[in-house]
Amino acid sequence: MDWNNKVAIVTGAASGIGAATAREFALGGAIAVIFDVNEAGGQQVAEQLRAEGAKAEFRRVDVSDADLCHATVHQVAEQFGRVDFLVNCAVSFIAKGLDVTTADWERSLGVNVRGYANMVQACFEPMKAVGGGAIVNTASISAHVAQQNRWTYNACKGAIVTMSKCQALDLAPYHIRVNIISPGWIWTPEVAKAANGDRAKWEPIWGRYHMLRRLGEPREVARAALFLCSDDASFITGTELPVDGGYLGLGSEGLGDTSTFAGTA
Ligand SMILES: NC(=O)c1ccc[n+]([C@@H]2O[C@H](COP(=O)([O-])OP(=O)(O)OC[C@H]3O[C@@H](n4cnc5c(N)ncnc54)[C@H](O)[C@@H]3O)[C@@H](O)[C@H]2O)c1
Repeated sequence: MDWNNKVAIVTGAASGIGAATAREFALGGAIAVIFDVNEAGGQQVAEQLRAEGAKAEFRRVDVSDADLCHATVHQVAEQFGRVDFLVNCAVSFIAKGLDVTTADWERSLGVNVRGYANMVQACFEPMKAVGGGAIVNTASISAHVAQQNRWTYNACKGAIVTMSKCQALDLAPYHIRVNIISPGWIWTPEVAKAANGDRAKWEPIWGRYHMLRRLGEPREVARAALFLCSDDASFITGTELPVDGGYLGLGSEGLGDTSTFAGTA
């Protein structure tokens, strides 16, 4: 895929999977525009990419603010003449169950569901103006399974899957494809925090949730997102690509007899 002169907006790109996705776009020749509430982190990602000779910019955007999404996307379209791709990675990791509050719901749904919708709405006109585009919304294996105290996060991820399919249907006449990636456990700052930074201790434990017996890297998810944006995916829309090392394929029997596995963590 020739990404040169294409414009890719990546939300939540100050960190983790979003940062890796912005990096793949920018090093591939696209102009990567980072939308995030973390100004220091977003500027740092953009500066690092520019230092490597790539094109990257940062915009401070809270995706739950529809007006700000629209204004900023339109400013980007004006500045660079186009918007081709949107990858939604921003997330509010509020994991609450019986103790969930109205404020928790508002923040979770506001960022993870409405925020994704705001960005798709904002990118629609600029993508239509250039004859099409591609959008990737990041859900999760959590869209499909029960996890303890995760009413908020898992409900949002389930909503992203279904909403994305509706968006794919509505935007198909404009040659805009919409797909979903659903990562398994990826070694990102949030996961590292849960592990107190001790990957050697926790990877063998959490890795066992995946057929590949390890956690994923942000770059592995980013590469899948770029595939879905590329011309190689020209007949793919309204579908979900798990990037999960086999997490969703595992049943209650788990890994079974692991003594026969020759792979490495
Ligand atoms: N890390 C995993 O194991 C994992 C697994 C499955 C799915 N995911 C999904 O992948 C995506 C990226 O996750 P990650 O682990 O890289 O996250 P991360 O925490 O590393 O990065 C998320 C980014 O979103 C930004 N953000 C938060 N609220 C925002 C808002 N209102 N507006 C704009 N930006 C905002 C944060 O500042 C942060 O930079 C998320 O959708 C997450 O649900 C992650």
